[in-house]
Amino acid sequence: MDSIEIKGGVPLKGEVRAGGAKNAVLPMMAAALLTNETCRFTNVPKLRDVDSMCMILRQLGVRAERVQPHTLELEAIDESPCLAPYSLVSQMRASICVLGPLLARRGRARVAMPGGCVIGTRPIDLHLKGLRALGARINIDRGDVIADARKLRGAEIYLGGPHGSTVLGTCNVLSAAVLAEGITTIENAACEPEVEELCRFLKKMGAKISGIGTKRLKIEGVTSLKGAEHSTIPDRIEAATLLVAGAITGGDVFVRKARADHLAAVIDALRQIGVKITEEANGIRVTSNGKFKPMDLTTLPYPGIPTDMQAQLMALLAVADGISVVTERIFPDRFMHIAELGRMRANIRKEGTSAIVIGVKYLSGAPVMASDLRASAALVLAGLVARNTTHISRVYHIDRGYERLERKLARLGARIKRLKT
Ligand code: UD1
Repeated sequence: MDSIEIKGGVPLKGEVRAGGAKNAVLPMMAAALLTNETCRFTNVPKLRDVDSMCMILRQLGVRAERVQPHTLELEAIDESPCLAPYSLVSQMRASICVLGPLLARRGRARVAMPGGCVIGTRPIDLHLKGLRALGARINIDRGDVIADARKLRGAEIYLGGPHGSTVLGTCNVLSAAVLAEGITTIENAACEPEVEELCRFLKKMGAKISGIGTKRLKIEGVTSLKGAEHSTIPDRIEAATLLVAGAITGGDVFVRKARADHLAAVIDALRQIGVKITEEANGIRVTSNGKFKPMDLTTLPYPGIPTDMQAQLMALLAVADGISVVTERIFPDRFMHIAELGRMRANIRKEGTSAIVIGVKYLSGAPVMASDLRASAALVLAGLVARNTTHISRVYHIDRGYERLERKLARLGARIKRLKT
């Protein structure tokens, strides 16, 4: 199992490029099940989650090939399989995205329930509610969701739950409604840029969707869809993580491809913390003097502060000059990083769905363990500013969502390396 070693204390300088968005490409890949023509995606990041989705799609009769390092071709050549087994689904929750497309195109699906993960219970009740509203019969048997529908029919669907909208739930219902008979309206649809991107891709395939980017999506079902080609948007979470890397080290970093229109809340938070952010042509520059003001922040659905940036921003606030309160509104249990940051001398205490972060003068490098994707990114950021050496084990979590993070940071001057064991 690989690990990452960081010797902290170097202000990062230079230019780094954000890759394609993992969370945008995964639901689009699942949408390739909606046609037997070829779908081609460019700017696809080389990540473990993308490989996992390829494996699931292959199981479902799709030819899935990386024809170039960042280009992926998908073509459903056998439309009879309908089973996504637990051995594959358990590796990546986003595999639930195949449910809607399978149901719409093949009339039936058997997809293992994804189960919980370290960031919380993560139910899929809203996905199932939406698909049932379209006319699917759904049963849970031996850990699998079993769905069938001779014909899906358009419906008016409210897709909100106790924590607001659902990103993958919206993707699933949307990807089924495009082939349903009649008109579907999804109220309280998630409006994350990744959902917008799926809409754009489905439109290229021939789907009729309006209200794209809003909380009310209207879909007019069509009888068939064709293959399409799409370039993946830059990953806003990777871009924001790199901005925080520049900030926390007191550096000067230009993140090429970072889109300010996707990162308004994060940019606003960084500015409140005292970091200089400049929007430049084709990217964002971060300049920091290494001194940070505390702030209270709350994660919210888009366009609020993404829950996927909570841990990284907490690492930054851990070395701010004062007390901050970080409140988690999307996944109330997403605080696994607190204990590991504590091993690095951070002073953070959990209070219900908030964390009280008492800024410390310095962090101290330590052996720590990655628990999930974004929590691991927070440990890397902490390691970049900590005194002495930080050793992060279980970095396969990082590889799920960051392409060669250590290489990108090393090019900016960080003393970071991957250790193969
Ligand atoms: C997606 C992202 C993930 C991000 C999350 C929130 C991908 C692959 N993953 O996950 O990185 O952290 O959005 O922005 O794109 N909920 C229900 N019932 C449901 C579905 C969700 O109650 O059926 C709740 C969840 O427990 C959570 C909230 O709704 O509290 C939002 O979850 P959701 O948007 O569905 O997250 P994902 O789509 O799984």
